[in-house]
Amino acid sequence: MRRREDIRDAFARRFGGRAAQAVAYAPGRINLIGEHTDYNGLPVLPFALPHSIRIAFAANDAGAIELRHARDTFPPVVFDVSGTVPPDAPGSWGNYAKAAVEYLARLAAETPGARPHGFAAVVDGDIPLAGGLSSSSALVVATALVFAEVNALGLTPLALASHLAVAEKYVGTQGGGMDQAASLLGARDKALRIDFFPLGVTHVPFPEGYAVLACHSLVKAAKTEEVRAQFNGRVGECRVAAALLRRAFDRPEAPRLGDFAKSLGAAACLAALTETLGGRDPAPAGSVLELLGMCEEEMAERFFRGTPPPSELRVLPRARHVLEEAARVDAATRALAAGDMRTLGVLMTSAHASARDLYEISHPALEELVGLFLAEGALGARLTGAGFGGFAIALGTQDVLEHLMAVVDEHFYRVRAPDRPLEELRFIVRPSDGAHVVRV
Ligand code: GLA
Repeated sequence: MRRREDIRDAFARRFGGRAAQAVAYAPGRINLIGEHTDYNGLPVLPFALPHSIRIAFAANDAGAIELRHARDTFPPVVFDVSGTVPPDAPGSWGNYAKAAVEYLARLAAETPGARPHGFAAVVDGDIPLAGGLSSSSALVVATALVFAEVNALGLTPLALASHLAVAEKYVGTQGGGMDQAASLLGARDKALRIDFFPLGVTHVPFPEGYAVLACHSLVKAAKTEEVRAQFNGRVGECRVAAALLRRAFDRPEAPRLGDFAKSLGAAACLAALTETLGGRDPAPAGSVLELLGMCEEEMAERFFRGTPPPSELRVLPRARHVLEEAARVDAATRALAAGDMRTLGVLMTSAHASARDLYEISHPALEELVGLFLAEGALGARLTGAGFGGFAIALGTQDVLEHLMAVVDEHFYRVRAPDRPLEELRFIVRPSDGAHVVRV
């Protein structure tokens, strides 16, 4: 209750006493298991956080969008919905809002005679930034809900999630569709088993008495240029793996690793890749180019968003991680549905080892947290989200998690961040509601 009044007050203060017409909420997410599978067309198992981005807004007829942030460190963002929407400098918060508006305005313009409405809005939120908990996608989702509301777009959450997975590519990261779907379709006390291409969501009850402790590694997982390049590099290696399988199995129509995993099984895919590459890991880019019969420019264009491919590619371990992770997500979905949290925990810990050793997205600070969690009684522990920093999670009963939190406060935060407020850095959570609009 208090939260909603705060943002409405902030709206009135910034817009000369005007009243907001509604508040949109879009939560962040924690991913229990299934990392870097979504863009390969393979499943994930996240849940929506109680932490969200909130936007208080009022429509206007002028087609102008005026966004203010409740925290003054974020500069105002003003743009027009008609025509193309040019992005701000990379890293600007406004680009996530623009990503949603640019895409949905184009969709709205397909109705003859339509002239999209704009809006004035104040944005705030309590999802830790740069922590891999999808604060950016939550901003995309919340802005999309506002735009859809003021333009009466009438899209279902599933349709909106599909659109926004594409829309977010505006910011330059080649992510999949997990974050937008988890935010839009999240539900209290339910994890989400999400499948892709086509997008499908099944709610899986999260048993009473259990929860997740999430702890910031204090290493930013911001979508900075460097992390973005690393992320897109992994996506590129997976695309190369799919291209090699297309040739090996003569299936030019299959775009993603997941298409092969679903029809042939993981073992056949890995055997074919190992044979094609002669077991080479890393594989020199030159030898992969030869196998694919393409030049470096073509590889850069098709798989690496125009940036030169690395001189050596780790196709085999990347594909092994993705294919085995998908099998772990299937097993984890079954375990959760059966209330078998012990098995879920074991699968999460194996997923972490794979993310560290095969996908190489961990960080020493994440290792320290995961090590502490496991030594102190977690049922399972892993990094969550894209990796390279951000949050680590532990699965357990409420009392075990409270004990873990005390240990982490003492041995991790007191040493490394004695002055930071602990509430921002770690919390115990259960699955919470998905995105919605509350009219005021
Ligand atoms: C980021 C992306 C997601 C997903 C994860 C890794 O959060 O936005 O689509 O790829 O990384 O699992």
